[in-house]
Amino acid sequence: MQVSDSSSRILAGLLEARTGQQLTMSRRWRIETALAALLRERGIPTLDELITILVMGREPSLATQVVEALLNNETYFFRDRSPFDLLAKAALPKLYQRRQSKRLRIWSAGCSTGQEAYSLAMLFAEDPVKWAGWTIDILGSDVSEGAVRRARDGIYSQFEVQRGLGITQMIRWFEECDDGWRAIEPLRRMVRFQVQNLLEPPPHPGEFDIVLCRNVLLYLNNERRAQVFDRIGGAMAPDGWLMLGAGETVIGQTRRFEADTEARGLYRLVGENDDRRTGADRRAATGG
Ligand SMILES: C[S@@+](CC[C@H](N)C(=O)[O-])C[C@H]1O[C@@H](n2cnc3c(N)ncnc32)[C@H](O)[C@@H]1O
Repeated sequence: MQVSDSSSRILAGLLEARTGQQLTMSRRWRIETALAALLRERGIPTLDELITILVMGREPSLATQVVEALLNNETYFFRDRSPFDLLAKAALPKLYQRRQSKRLRIWSAGCSTGQEAYSLAMLFAEDPVKWAGWTIDILGSDVSEGAVRRARDGIYSQFEVQRGLGITQMIRWFEECDDGWRAIEPLRRMVRFQVQNLLEPPPHPGEFDIVLCRNVLLYLNNERRAQVFDRIGGAMAPDGWLMLGAGETVIGQTRRFEADTEARGLYRLVGENDDRRTGADRRAATGG
């Protein structure tokens, strides 16, 4: 299957318009592989035929399927491992002391098929005595309906469940079912999933104690990335933390966040680095 320049431009334009994700020239080789299964499934013989159907707008659901197929959903449990250790050592102890309400809200933004959200749930489930009596609310969201459906099912193949999990963790937190391995109830109770496009206003303004947005914003243009940072900032509690993927940063991308001076790899809303500030100071600094 040959992808002409004009076809790849149309497909890249569709993906960027819907999700902000850019298919740079060097990533356009992905198109052919990514769409092969969809073309087979829909009985569409060539990419040109697909483009014709898209351009004529005969089947709006096809455009959504094309976008979903072009998105990169790569993920696995405890991806890059050290970020989860960092959260456990740097952010959770502080939140444990500060949150008299005994409630934590965490947002995995761009959660793909849910492994990141379930990994977070395991952090809490593995320390049940400490977190007894707490309400842990982990929201996973993604623009891809298919990914969110899979995340909600919480069922992973043998290959997927072993990516990032040792055998002990796998047996402890997943049970074998007809289709693979299903996350057990104590994890499922902490997580919920919803379809959400980061180009649109975020859920629950001002509430999240921790936001993970890892390996999502890499291919957004600068303007859109700055907008998303702004929106994420608006969804966070003033003393919350943002975590990005390895190799991603807020430096030079937004004025809303700055590196946490005490925990490299975590970001805080500007003006929140000094923990000695009072709540009133904080509100004044953020104009609240
Ligand atoms: C490479 S995966 C990363 C998954 C997970 N955060 C991790 O690091 O393992 C990127 C995810 O971001 C999602 N995504 C891309 N653009 C998005 C947007 N505009 N809004 C919400 N999710 C988006 C994709 O559908 C995909 O599931």
